[in-house]
Amino acid sequence: MGVFFLNSSIGRKFVMSITGAALVLFLTFHSIMNIFVIISPEIYDSICHFLGANWYALIGTIGLALLVVIHIGFALMLTIQNRRARGKDAYQVTARPNGVDWASQNMFVLGVIILGFLCMHLYQFWSKMQLVELIGKINGEEIHVAGSVVVQHLFQSPVYCVLYIIWITALWFHLTHGIWSSMQTLGMSNNVWLPRIKCISEIYATIICLLFVAIPIYYLIVNLIS
Ligand code: HEM
Repeated sequence: MGVFFLNSSIGRKFVMSITGAALVLFLTFHSIMNIFVIISPEIYDSICHFLGANWYALIGTIGLALLVVIHIGFALMLTIQNRRARGKDAYQVTARPNGVDWASQNMFVLGVIILGFLCMHLYQFWSKMQLVELIGKINGEEIHVAGSVVVQHLFQSPVYCVLYIIWITALWFHLTHGIWSSMQTLGMSNNVWLPRIKCISEIYATIICLLFVAIPIYYLIVNLIS
């Protein structure tokens, strides 16, 4: 069974779709949770406290890390396989086939950009929150970091606001193609439903990304007018 997922193209696509769908689920939750940093910092801090160095939050973090590693590993395999299949045409400049959007041809590059920014993001937030609380717990101390203060502090910098806007734009392109493509791989589309699924995916990706991008844009404006 495991060999099927590793060796067949459809098996690899299936793994990409399942892990991608689970990551979209995380992003849905993360984007809704984050918006509270603007609406009500108190509520945001209690959610962060709930998701601190607790066993259930740690299991979630480990699960998430596994999903990211598997998603990237299989993306690498599929990209190498596609390049080999294209053979000598791989480096030729060819016209973009009809109906194939820009994002679908650049999923791997978009993924690399997203991953790069994700490393920066985890250093800026995760390592200063959950990791600090975890190290505290190991040393027998009960530390609670106020998430809203960490977020507000970072976005005092217009440079970081702009970097986050660029990151979320790349994520939007990746998701608009990724969501419908995974639904198609999982057998949820036919000729009638394909355009509808594409439309639903664009709306869904746009809502998630608007929730994310609202935060750096909000702090950019607040800092400009104050
Ligand atoms: C303005 C937008 C965002 C804000 C304000 C934000 C905020 C945060 C904060 C405060 C944490 C640390 C939570 C903790 O340690 O308890 C965190 C963790 C994380 N964020 Fe974000 N985030 C944003 C966008 C994103 C995006 C776009 C992605 C993915 C593409 C992402 C992926 C993650 C991941 C994977 C974690 C680690 C989760 C875990 O430890 O379980 N974030 N984020």
